[in-house]
Amino acid sequence: MATLDTAEPTRRDFLYLATGAVATVGVAALAWPFIDQMNPDASALALASTEVDVSSVQPGQIVTVKWRGKPVFIRNRTAKEMEEARNVDIKTLPDPQTDQERVKKGHDSLLIVVGTCTHLGCVPLGHAGEYDGWFCPCHGSVYDTSGRIRKGPAPLNLIVPPYEFISEKVVKIG
Ligand code: FES
Repeated sequence: MATLDTAEPTRRDFLYLATGAVATVGVAALAWPFIDQMNPDASALALASTEVDVSSVQPGQIVTVKWRGKPVFIRNRTAKEMEEARNVDIKTLPDPQTDQERVKKGHDSLLIVVGTCTHLGCVPLGHAGEYDGWFCPCHGSVYDTSGRIRKGPAPLNLIVPPYEFISEKVVKIG
Protein backbone atom coordinates (compact mmCIF):
# COMPACT_ATOMS: atom_id res chain seq x y z
CA MET A 1 0.00 0.00 0.00
CA ALA A 2 1.39 3.37 -0.97
CA THR A 3 1.89 5.84 1.81
CA LEU A 4 1.53 9.42 0.77
CA ASP A 5 2.99 12.24 2.75
CA THR A 6 0.40 14.78 3.70
CA ALA A 7 0.59 18.28 5.07
CA GLU A 8 3.48 19.29 7.28
CA PRO A 9 2.86 17.95 10.75
CA THR A 10 3.35 20.28 13.66
CA ARG A 11 6.09 19.63 16.15
CA ARG A 12 3.56 18.82 18.83
CA ASP A 13 1.72 16.27 16.74
CA PHE A 14 4.58 14.55 15.11
CA LEU A 15 7.48 14.12 17.44
CA TYR A 16 9.22 11.45 15.45
CA LEU A 17 11.10 8.84 17.39
CA ALA A 18 13.75 7.21 15.28
CA THR A 19 13.22 3.67 16.41
CA GLY A 20 16.80 2.62 15.84
CA ALA A 21 18.24 5.48 17.85
CA VAL A 22 15.82 6.38 20.57
CA ALA A 23 12.76 4.25 20.91
CA THR A 24 14.03 0.78 20.26
CA VAL A 25 15.56 -1.05 23.14
CA GLY A 26 19.31 -1.21 22.57
CA VAL A 27 19.54 -4.93 22.11
CA ALA A 28 17.23 -4.96 19.14
CA ALA A 29 19.04 -2.02 17.52
CA LEU A 30 22.41 -3.69 17.94
CA ALA A 31 21.23 -7.10 16.91
CA TRP A 32 19.71 -6.11 13.63
CA PRO A 33 22.84 -5.39 11.51
CA PHE A 34 24.49 -8.49 12.88
CA ILE A 35 21.56 -10.77 12.18
CA ASP A 36 21.06 -9.09 8.85
CA GLN A 37 24.37 -10.43 7.62
CA MET A 38 23.52 -13.98 8.57
CA ASN A 39 20.28 -14.74 6.85
CA PRO A 40 17.23 -12.94 5.56
CA ASP A 41 14.73 -14.93 7.64
CA ALA A 42 16.35 -13.82 10.86
CA SER A 43 16.51 -10.23 9.70
CA ALA A 44 12.82 -10.30 8.79
CA LEU A 45 12.14 -11.57 12.27
CA ALA A 46 14.14 -8.76 13.84
CA LEU A 47 12.08 -6.24 11.90
CA ALA A 48 8.82 -7.85 12.87
CA SER A 49 8.67 -6.14 16.23
CA THR A 50 9.66 -2.81 17.69
CA GLU A 51 10.18 -2.05 21.35
CA VAL A 52 9.35 1.44 22.52
CA ASP A 53 9.89 3.14 25.85
CA VAL A 54 6.59 4.95 26.23
CA SER A 55 7.33 6.53 29.61
CA SER A 56 8.41 9.80 28.02
CA VAL A 57 5.20 10.28 26.02
CA GLN A 58 3.51 13.13 27.87
CA PRO A 59 -0.27 13.43 28.33
CA GLY A 60 -1.68 15.03 25.21
CA GLN A 61 1.33 14.07 23.11
CA ILE A 62 1.46 11.82 20.07
CA VAL A 63 4.73 10.25 19.01
CA THR A 64 5.30 8.30 15.85
CA VAL A 65 7.49 5.23 15.57
CA LYS A 66 8.19 3.03 12.62
CA TRP A 67 7.08 -0.59 12.56
CA ARG A 68 7.39 -2.84 9.51
CA GLY A 69 7.94 0.26 7.40
CA LYS A 70 4.74 1.91 8.58
CA PRO A 71 4.17 4.79 10.99
CA VAL A 72 2.59 3.85 14.29
CA PHE A 73 1.05 6.56 16.45
CA ILE A 74 1.42 6.33 20.20
CA ARG A 75 -0.92 8.79 21.86
CA ASN A 76 -0.98 9.41 25.59
CA ARG A 77 -4.48 10.76 25.94
CA THR A 78 -5.58 13.36 28.45
CA ALA A 79 -8.52 12.66 30.77
CA LYS A 80 -10.69 14.83 28.53
CA GLU A 81 -9.65 12.95 25.38
CA MET A 82 -10.40 9.62 27.02
CA GLU A 83 -13.74 10.81 28.29
CA GLU A 84 -14.68 11.93 24.78
CA ALA A 85 -13.67 8.54 23.39
CA ARG A 86 -15.76 6.68 25.97
CA ASN A 87 -18.86 8.86 25.90
CA VAL A 88 -19.86 7.67 22.45
CA ASP A 89 -22.78 5.47 21.58
CA ILE A 90 -20.91 2.90 19.52
CA LYS A 91 -24.07 2.01 17.59
CA THR A 92 -23.62 5.35 15.81
CA LEU A 93 -20.12 4.44 14.59
CA PRO A 94 -19.35 3.17 11.07
CA ASP A 95 -16.95 0.60 12.57
CA PRO A 96 -18.37 0.02 16.05
CA GLN A 97 -15.76 -0.62 18.71
CA THR A 98 -15.58 0.53 22.31
CA ASP A 99 -12.56 2.51 23.38
CA GLN A 100 -11.81 -0.22 25.91
CA GLU A 101 -11.46 -2.75 23.08
CA ARG A 102 -8.76 -0.59 21.51
CA VAL A 103 -6.42 -0.18 24.48
CA LYS A 104 -4.82 -2.39 27.13
CA LYS A 105 -6.51 -2.50 30.53
CA GLY A 106 -4.42 -0.65 33.09
CA HIS A 107 -2.83 1.45 30.34
CA ASP A 108 -6.07 2.98 29.16
CA SER A 109 -4.71 6.38 28.29
CA LEU A 110 -2.25 4.94 25.76
CA LEU A 111 -3.72 4.49 22.32
CA ILE A 112 -1.49 2.74 19.79
CA VAL A 113 -2.63 2.67 16.16
CA VAL A 114 -1.12 2.18 12.73
CA GLY A 115 -0.78 5.68 11.28
CA THR A 116 -2.24 5.09 7.87
CA CYS A 117 -5.74 6.07 6.83
CA THR A 118 -7.95 3.08 6.12
CA HIS A 119 -9.19 4.75 2.95
CA LEU A 120 -6.13 4.87 0.70
CA GLY A 121 -3.24 4.92 3.13
CA CYS A 122 -2.37 8.58 3.68
CA VAL A 123 -0.89 9.55 7.04
CA PRO A 124 -3.54 11.44 9.02
CA LEU A 125 -2.72 14.54 11.09
CA GLY A 126 -3.04 14.30 14.86
CA HIS A 127 -5.01 16.66 17.10
CA ALA A 128 -7.06 17.58 14.07
CA GLY A 129 -10.58 17.23 12.78
CA GLU A 130 -13.75 17.98 14.66
CA TYR A 131 -13.25 15.17 17.18
CA ASP A 132 -9.68 16.30 17.91
CA GLY A 133 -8.46 12.84 17.00
CA TRP A 134 -6.94 12.68 13.52
CA PHE A 135 -7.82 14.22 10.20
CA CYS A 136 -6.78 12.80 6.86
CA PRO A 137 -6.43 15.68 4.41
CA CYS A 138 -6.33 13.42 1.35
CA HIS A 139 -10.08 12.88 1.17
CA GLY A 140 -11.34 14.23 4.48
CA SER A 141 -11.64 11.24 6.80
CA VAL A 142 -12.11 12.24 10.43
CA TYR A 143 -11.11 9.99 13.34
CA ASP A 144 -11.84 10.47 17.04
CA THR A 145 -9.57 10.27 20.08
CA SER A 146 -9.85 6.48 19.95
CA GLY A 147 -8.76 6.48 16.29
CA ARG A 148 -12.24 5.42 15.21
CA ILE A 149 -13.59 6.59 11.91
CA ARG A 150 -16.36 9.16 12.38
CA LYS A 151 -16.72 10.85 8.99
CA GLY A 152 -15.43 10.66 5.44
CA PRO A 153 -14.67 7.84 3.06
CA ALA A 154 -12.45 5.64 5.25
CA PRO A 155 -14.40 2.46 6.03
CA LEU A 156 -12.57 1.31 9.16
CA ASN A 157 -11.03 2.56 12.37
CA LEU A 158 -7.28 3.14 12.48
CA ILE A 159 -5.84 -0.31 12.99
CA VAL A 160 -4.58 -1.32 16.41
CA PRO A 161 -1.43 -3.35 15.80
CA PRO A 162 -0.62 -6.35 17.98
CA TYR A 163 1.31 -5.10 21.00
CA GLU A 164 2.03 -5.90 24.61
CA PHE A 165 3.62 -4.22 27.58
CA ILE A 166 6.80 -6.10 28.39
CA SER A 167 7.38 -3.84 31.40
CA GLU A 168 5.63 -0.85 32.93
CA LYS A 169 7.53 1.40 30.52
CA VAL A 170 8.21 -0.63 27.41
CA VAL A 171 5.76 -1.69 24.72
CA LYS A 172 6.61 -4.34 22.18
CA ILE A 173 4.77 -3.72 18.94
CA GLY A 174 4.44 -6.72 16.63
S1 FES B 1 -6.57 8.36 2.21
FE1 FES B 1 -7.41 9.25 4.00
S2 FES B 1 -9.30 10.00 3.34
FE2 FES B 1 -8.52 9.06 1.57
